[in-house]
Amino acid sequence: MLNSLHTTQIYVLDQDQALDFYVGKLGLEVNTDADLGFMRWLTVNVPGEPGRSIVLEKPGPPIMSDETAAQVRDLMTKGALGGHLFFATEDAAATHAQLKEKGVEVDDLMDQSYGIDFGLRDPFGNHVELVTGQTVLARPINFGRPAAGISEFGHLCLDAPDVRAAHEFWSTVFSGRVSDWIGDGACLMRIDPVHHKLAFFQNDAGAGFCHINFQVRTLDDVMRNWRFLQQNDVHILHGPGRHPTSTAIFVYFLGPDDLTYEYSFGVQLIEDDAAWRPRMFELQEPGSIDMWLGPTQRTVSQSQLAERPSVNADANPSESAVSV
Ligand SMILES: [Fe+2]
Repeated sequence: MLNSLHTTQIYVLDQDQALDFYVGKLGLEVNTDADLGFMRWLTVNVPGEPGRSIVLEKPGPPIMSDETAAQVRDLMTKGALGGHLFFATEDAAATHAQLKEKGVEVDDLMDQSYGIDFGLRDPFGNHVELVTGQTVLARPINFGRPAAGISEFGHLCLDAPDVRAAHEFWSTVFSGRVSDWIGDGACLMRIDPVHHKLAFFQNDAGAGFCHINFQVRTLDDVMRNWRFLQQNDVHILHGPGRHPTSTAIFVYFLGPDDLTYEYSFGVQLIEDDAAWRPRMFELQEPGSIDMWLGPTQRTVSQSQLAERPSVNADANPSESAVSV
């Protein structure tokens, strides 16, 4: 619905005097100074922030009657109707000293839990607070799970009865480069800086479809998706865990028709293509698939052109030795 707060307002008794204070002393800049006939529309903003302005408004007709305006002025004079403005400043101590030099009456500097700050009153009783060192949370922070957080397609994994032969084909015909081997059980290949966009798993059952990987934007997305899948009774095959090969943090799950999917985050990029030397991981070594040493369930593969049992993870339609 709403996008931003762009204009706020405070009352001032004299707009020229307000300009002298807010622009001449506090260092704001004039945003708009327009004679609308029925009123002077005067706004100021912090330099560099023209999208967030403050109206310096003189109480009076046509917004309010002369009688009401007199009451507002009376309350302002007593300091009972002051607006409040809170500004951030790079160096509260330096700003404090500069304002004192300009004759502005300022309160003492205070070391607060949220930063160093001090207050002052404008000539009309409005309260102005300046703070430095206040923690600003980076935005946007995604606290929920509006979506899976998929940022891009990650990789495609195929089954092959002979991983070496698959490597030979894909490296010569499609110019894929091998990033890592896992014994004779798997070959991980890249076609761009991503550690692997193609992977081949040894499967005696023959050619088949092993899994599709999607990269998600953050580690939080991996974990939120894992919870979400669990809550929706989706069969988790493996993870959360972390592959020592690509360094990606993953979760594997079974989708419709026994297709296996993977969400992962943090896949390694191989920027210096010429300098990369493929590594050999030993499949039997603990942690060679999941360096967090989590329980591993073999990835369910979908054999190509094969008659298969009904959708049921326990039916073990066809299982690859590894999942990467
Ligand atoms: Fe994978």
